[in-house]
Amino acid sequence: MKEYELNVRVKVLMPAELEKSDAELVEAAKQATETSYSPYSHFQVGAALRMESGEIIKGSNQENASYPVSCCAERTALFWAGANRPGQAVRAIAIAAQSKGRFTDDVTGPCGVCRQALLEVEHRQGSPIRLLLYSESGVHVTDSIEEIVPFSFYAESMGSEE
Ligand code: THU
Repeated sequence: MKEYELNVRVKVLMPAELEKSDAELVEAAKQATETSYSPYSHFQVGAALRMESGEIIKGSNQENASYPVSCCAERTALFWAGANRPGQAVRAIAIAAQSKGRFTDDVTGPCGVCRQALLEVEHRQGSPIRLLLYSESGVHVTDSIEEIVPFSFYAESMGSEE
């Protein structure tokens, strides 16, 4: 038998310790929770992307009575960026969530579907997307999406060129 470990390096910083542009991005993710449409889960998620131009693009979760139709905050922001800022790299994404009128004590990590969507953008642009997860006890930062998706699936996994 062989055994190995896969490690993820996570930095935890208090908002005051963040670089100005990261602090601004986290604040934008927190603000984005206000536009969440979540009458079913009552869980308000906000995401904010830092584009290579410096622009911030915000997204929030948008739900539907037919639950699977709903879209997470991360993909709302990511697909808006793809549609309206084509060809521009995403440098970072910040995520925050509110439940029962307050920001969560624990981080809200992107769901598996959003990780896959973020991973393809990262792979396609050829540069990492930093991840900043807000919680009341600190901001958890990783250097890329790839790091939080071990055994990643890409088009190349099917043996295609795309
Ligand atoms: N949700 C997000 O928007 N992003 C995440 O990272 C986790 C979950 C949304 C989906 C749904 O509207 C609500 O949170 C509860 O799952």
